[in-house]
Amino acid sequence: MREKLNKIKEEILNTSIHSIEEAELYRLKYLSRKGVMNELFEEFKKVPNEEKRSVGQLMNELKLIADKKINDAQLQFGTDKNKNKQSFLDLSLSGEPIELGSRHPLLITQNKIVEIFNKLGFVFTEGPEIENDWHNFSGLNFPENHPARDMQDTFFVDKDIALRTHTSSVQVRLMETETPPIRAIMPGRVYRNEAISARAHCFFHQIEGIYIDENVSFADLKQTLYHFVKEMFGKEFNIRFRPSYFPFTEPSAEMDISCMFCKGEGCNICKHSGWVEILGCGMVDPEVLKSNHIDAEKYTGFAFGMGIERITMLLYNVKDLRVFSNNDVRFLKQFNGV
Ligand code: DAH
Repeated sequence: MREKLNKIKEEILNTSIHSIEEAELYRLKYLSRKGVMNELFEEFKKVPNEEKRSVGQLMNELKLIADKKINDAQLQFGTDKNKNKQSFLDLSLSGEPIELGSRHPLLITQNKIVEIFNKLGFVFTEGPEIENDWHNFSGLNFPENHPARDMQDTFFVDKDIALRTHTSSVQVRLMETETPPIRAIMPGRVYRNEAISARAHCFFHQIEGIYIDENVSFADLKQTLYHFVKEMFGKEFNIRFRPSYFPFTEPSAEMDISCMFCKGEGCNICKHSGWVEILGCGMVDPEVLKSNHIDAEKYTGFAFGMGIERITMLLYNVKDLRVFSNNDVRFLKQFNGV
């Protein structure tokens, strides 16, 4: 064995490597799994115990020489891996572009609405999504037996605590902390116990507006919303009010705008009426002012609330509300806006 080792050592020392290809052949011959060194380690197992020490030393020496030889060759000619890298490294290429995200379409719509009302002096305000009965219902004059209080419509967290069903709850929070004049715009997520479909979801977004001051009239409400529609949709849009009912406003109305798809001619989307509904509104019921400690003799106010999904669907002609929460990047990246 000793003789054999010396012979191989001689052989390795006399081997000269001139290229990366030769280095690879050398590596295969001596250092690969089926190479000479491994064969020697197999043979080493059969060496009598008393010789193991000195033969082992020789083997280690041999292994070091073999390793050094290939390391030197690789340093001199480059490894195969580096060789490939070098041939693919094109320093004149431009850098990989970093893909920018885009704003969610609902946020784009919300920001537009908030901006329009900001310019009219409405202050951005928010409230909690988990609310007590007072802020979501009682403080807004909902009768004890109103169907909205039913388990079928509302997600209850506890007997008196629920996920808010509308952003009108933030009105109550404002009235208890502020004194008039109050002028605020309040967006947020709301929850209702509804079966999910193309037109309904168990969570969606609303934006609420309120203005309380001396001498606020229904004419102010109409003019404010008219201005909003012109800014949001365009000058050619008209509005109309239909009488309605909400427990917290009196009188109450729903507002329609001319259908953007048929320009008022009548189509499937507007059910051939030429109008689409976009919000609920009204004069704040004096009962609501009183129960929130605002002098109803001195002050009046108007309020309105609209669905952000609905406005976004109308603006971008989106037919299925579920796409807003599916998080499909192919849908989301079509939108650009701030
Ligand atoms: N909270 C109502 C809803 O969720 C919308 C609404 C109607 C808000 C009239 C108002 C209002 O502020 O005055 O359907």
